[in-house]
Amino acid sequence: MAEAELFSSDLLSPEVQAALPEGYQLRALRRSDFDTGFLDCLRVLTTVGDITQQQFEDRYSWITRQDGGYFILVVEDTNPSPPRVVGTGALIVERKFIHNLGSVGHIEDIAVAKDQQGKKLGLRIIKALDFIAGKTGCYKTILDCSEANEGFYVKCGFRRAGLEMAHYI
Ligand code: ACO
Repeated sequence: MAEAELFSSDLLSPEVQAALPEGYQLRALRRSDFDTGFLDCLRVLTTVGDITQQQFEDRYSWITRQDGGYFILVVEDTNPSPPRVVGTGALIVERKFIHNLGSVGHIEDIAVAKDQQGKKLGLRIIKALDFIAGKTGCYKTILDCSEANEGFYVKCGFRRAGLEMAHYI
């Protein structure tokens, strides 16, 4: 039996899958992604820390309990054996009271492995997250990024709107 995934494959964009390079697969995160390259992708983005498999699985279980609010997808290169995760992105769906109980999608933790950058995988991941946002009823997706990445998100169809503020606890 196929391993359970974080969310239904109905939420995976067929257009994005069709546009990926040969042997690359778009899929939801799996509990077994502890050592498939997923965490190494995230290390391209920021520090991940030295988390254990048990800690990874505990966090995965917590996410599964978030009742359709949390979507993490990966792009996997199935050409090597074993296959390797080469890109990832997350969408957190915030359900609001305003805008007639509107939902906003927060795009987070976009990362493509260093040796895979420049192949449009980042763009495909954003398109795949926007597809999920549309399917789950979001009226917009928003994200925070550095100035250095602004051009990438403009290429993905985003525009600068507002100002990020942070308070580190
Ligand atoms: N500035 C301007 N343009 C860019 C940049 C950039 N930093 N990065 C890519 N582009 C352009 C590409 O040239 C391409 O343009 P084209 O269509 O004219 O050829 C287009 O954007 C799409 O690029 P991709 O090939 O899809 O980009 P890639 O797969 O390399 O992914 C990403 C981009 C995700 C920023 C990757 O470089 C990465 O993982 N960087 C390190 C982690 C990171 O900074 N993640 C984003 C954090 S913000 C957040 O998570 C919300």
